[in-house]
Amino acid sequence: MSSISFPKDFTWGVATASYQIEGAWNTEGKGESIWDRFSHTPGKIQNNENGDVACDHYHRWPEDIALMKSLDVQAYRFSLSWPRIFPEGSGQINQPGLDFYSRLVDGLLDAGITPYITLYHWDLPQRLQEEGGWPARSTAEAFVAYTDEVTRQLGDRVKNWMTLNEPYVSAYIGYLEGRHAPGHRNIDEMLSAAHHLLLAHGWSVQPIRENVGEAHVGVVLNMSPFVPASPSKEDADQARIEDGIVNRWYLDPLAGRGYPEDIREHYGHGEEYVQQNDMEVIAAPIDFMGVNYYFRSIARSESIPEEENEPREVFPNDEFTEMGWEVHADGLADILERMHVDYSFPELLVTENGAAYNDTLDENQQVNDTKRIDYLKGHVRACGRAIEKGVPLKGYFVWSFLDNFEWSYGFSKRFGLVYVDFETLERIPKQSATLYNGIIRHGGLMLE
Ligand code: FCB
Repeated sequence: MSSISFPKDFTWGVATASYQIEGAWNTEGKGESIWDRFSHTPGKIQNNENGDVACDHYHRWPEDIALMKSLDVQAYRFSLSWPRIFPEGSGQINQPGLDFYSRLVDGLLDAGITPYITLYHWDLPQRLQEEGGWPARSTAEAFVAYTDEVTRQLGDRVKNWMTLNEPYVSAYIGYLEGRHAPGHRNIDEMLSAAHHLLLAHGWSVQPIRENVGEAHVGVVLNMSPFVPASPSKEDADQARIEDGIVNRWYLDPLAGRGYPEDIREHYGHGEEYVQQNDMEVIAAPIDFMGVNYYFRSIARSESIPEEENEPREVFPNDEFTEMGWEVHADGLADILERMHVDYSFPELLVTENGAAYNDTLDENQQVNDTKRIDYLKGHVRACGRAIEKGVPLKGYFVWSFLDNFEWSYGFSKRFGLVYVDFETLERIPKQSATLYNGIIRHGGLMLE
């Protein structure tokens, strides 16, 4: 038996997001979010489901913390619902909303669990959408005021702050593909939304540092390696463009390099949304970069007929999750190394990694989720390999702690370490929760 040893101070956590678990969508003064509006619009979500109740974490958080504690989870990444705190996005604060998070933080600290807060995980106040949403610069200004207030009130107890979760997904899927709230399909909106998200991030770094002693500030990107399907120039170009759209459009400006030239050319759209100094603001130094990793992508060009292209050499392996995502743990190690070698962020965290499978309760009321166990083992090993190569990876968070509302897929995709019966809201830890508990207790993973 050999074991991968992770550094002693490595952080083992679990992650969730407000809209996906809280429920209580209009409780105690909470305002409407774009996800409330979107999921209440018929035809947007599979089976027309919504997050009105979700896991009812808003009322069951003490039980959830106790469950995390029983698994020896060291850190909990969760997001704040902006409209729970500012129902209109700005102006009047809804103190009961903020008090909910304050109690949650106290509960976590009492249980010895370190809170990691994401300020924006997609539930924009609907009111701000009506004023233009992320394509409007004023939304970024409102974000800074919101950040300032919550870091003042929670910053005495919470040191770890993430501004945004996956700005690519907010901008691209929300404003161009329309599969996420607010469901628009407009490339100019997408581009200005992306810019204002990045600007909101950059503008917030300073107030977070001012309000939080020893603040540890970062931002979270979804990352996927794009591998050309063949050695043809067309496939190489395709991989470069897709990598640029998903990865570099966010990484490069955050790293102080501005928007990548090749993708600016590819879009060929005006950039009126960029004002003087914006790019300096976006490049504000951060303490860590958060990486959400699920799958790799294989790029195949459609610019030439299939028969004129070189034969495919790279094929997906034959394992896919319920999302249809290829299981490819090496891709995580590749991404982490690239982030270190090409961008040298001071610290990296895997802020999300996990898999959806079609979990069911067996006759003993247990969930024997062997595929998720294999997925997690493989990806934790990939983290270990990256660390051995010198990547400053400091923590790993499983997506997700609980089965939850998976956006446009509703409740059909179960990502949790803990099974949730959405009728009774009962929580039942899966076998993968036991595995993760073992990983945490051994400070890494024993390799067979
Ligand atoms: C990520 C999201 C997260 C969850 C997982 C499966 O893109 O950040 O909320 O939906 O995918």
